[in-house]
Amino acid sequence: MNSRLAFVLAVGLAGALSYVLHLRAEVAVAAAPDGKMLFASKCAACHQATGLGGGPYPPLAGNTDVTAPDTANLILTVLNGRSGPIQVNGKTFSGAMPAWKDQLSDGDLAAVLTYIRSAWTNNAAAVTAPQVAAARNPTALSGAQIFTAKCATCHQPNGAGTTVYPPLSGNPDVAASDPKGMIATIVNGRSGPLVVNGTTYNGKMPTWKGQLSNADIAAVATYVRSAWSNKASGVSEQQVAAAGAAVLSTVGASIFSTKCASCHGAKGQGGGGGMFPALAGDSLVNAGDPKGMIGVIEHGRKVMPSWKGQLSAGDIAAVATFVRSAWGNKGGPVTEQDVAAVK
Ligand code: HEC
Ligand code: HEC
Ligand code: HEC
Repeated sequence: MNSRLAFVLAVGLAGALSYVLHLRAEVAVAAAPDGKMLFASKCAACHQATGLGGGPYPPLAGNTDVTAPDTANLILTVLNGRSGPIQVNGKTFSGAMPAWKDQLSDGDLAAVLTYIRSAWTNNAAAVTAPQVAAARNPTALSGAQIFTAKCATCHQPNGAGTTVYPPLSGNPDVAASDPKGMIATIVNGRSGPLVVNGTTYNGKMPTWKGQLSNADIAAVATYVRSAWSNKASGVSEQQVAAAGAAVLSTVGASIFSTKCASCHGAKGQGGGGGMFPALAGDSLVNAGDPKGMIGVIEHGRKVMPSWKGQLSAGDIAAVATFVRSAWGNKGGPVTEQDVAAVK
């Protein structure tokens, strides 16, 4: 063999070998991500190496949001970012925290979260990669876009609402620990009077049923529950799907309280000295076949108003389902199709 060629080959081989070794070293690092190093390279520019923050950047050291036993919100914050006012230890910060979901793997995020929960004076349990993976709800990625496209014209990009549209930011209904009622509102819409933080709104929230998929509703609900000053946990597609029957009965309960309770009593006990019949325990209400009851609601009878034209078939199904399952009643659910079939 030509000696020059042998030299070139040898150099090439050494280069390839060192490249392979280098790769292996990198693989080894990736297998055990170092939370402290990740924090130094990705987070310390804003939150400082001391974790004390400064300016618009909140402290992570001594921050109970960071050390909370339930890590759901912490994980979502770092995955999806957040912006708008946030209160930490009695001080208000207002800046933009970037989303890390596309830049850091589940393992990296678990490592950096474990680090911030145990560094400085913090002393909370580790976060695992499977926990991060579970929170990486792929549908949550488009929540902000759906909000911008479908909701922001009324509720405003910052979620603060207007004099006519209620705020979603800082709204206890939106951040409630059980998201069922809020899911019901987004699915079915709702109208007037609605009291939020002492202000009464009297508008009409559109129905999104048929316009947004369960996944989209989960995404936008997750977004509004975690954006701005809200800090509630995410909503999964399964929760939206599972909310089906409950959605109907939540809507039914609200229709009953606004349209029916004045006569039939808040607990279906009847009223008016016997003029308005009790619906609790009523035989027509509990009948296996709901047609008779639907007929009375649609067409009215004597003093009982006719609701056809005032309530949609979906609303009548919802209120009938509610009445048939409330206060010990045991009638089955009523569907929109059942209502449409009663002429
Ligand atoms: C460009 C600056 C910046 C970088 C980089 C940054 N953050 Fe933030 N972070 C912020 C700001 C600003 C807020 C407050 C956001 C708000 O006002 O809503 C915040 C908020 C947070 C919160 C929420 C605190 C609370 O009380 O709920 C956590 C947790 C957090 N950051 C962790 C991290 C981690 C971990 C990293 C690195 C992977 C990181 N941040 C990188 C700017 C940054
Ligand atoms: C056309 C204007 C409009 C649009 C668009 C709109 N909303 Fe609403 N929304 C309202 C009004 C008005 C109310 C209050 C209804 C009432 O008075 O009962 C409301 C109420 C709500 C509530 C209930 C708040 C509470 O305190 O119970 C939620 C949650 C909500 N909207 C979320 C959304 C989401 C998510 C979207 C986008 C998918 C959206 N809204 C799009 C007008 C709108
Ligand atoms: C203005 C008072 C009033 C309101 C409001 C009202 N009802 Fe009635 N409802 C009555 C009266 C009175 C009767 C009994 C009619 C009769 O004597 O035949 C009745 C009867 C009924 C019955 C039949 C009970 C039976 O066994 O025959 C049902 C079901 C019913 N109402 C449901 C509703 C629902 C659901 C709503 C709301 C969407 C509603 N009502 C709103 C006054 C009212």
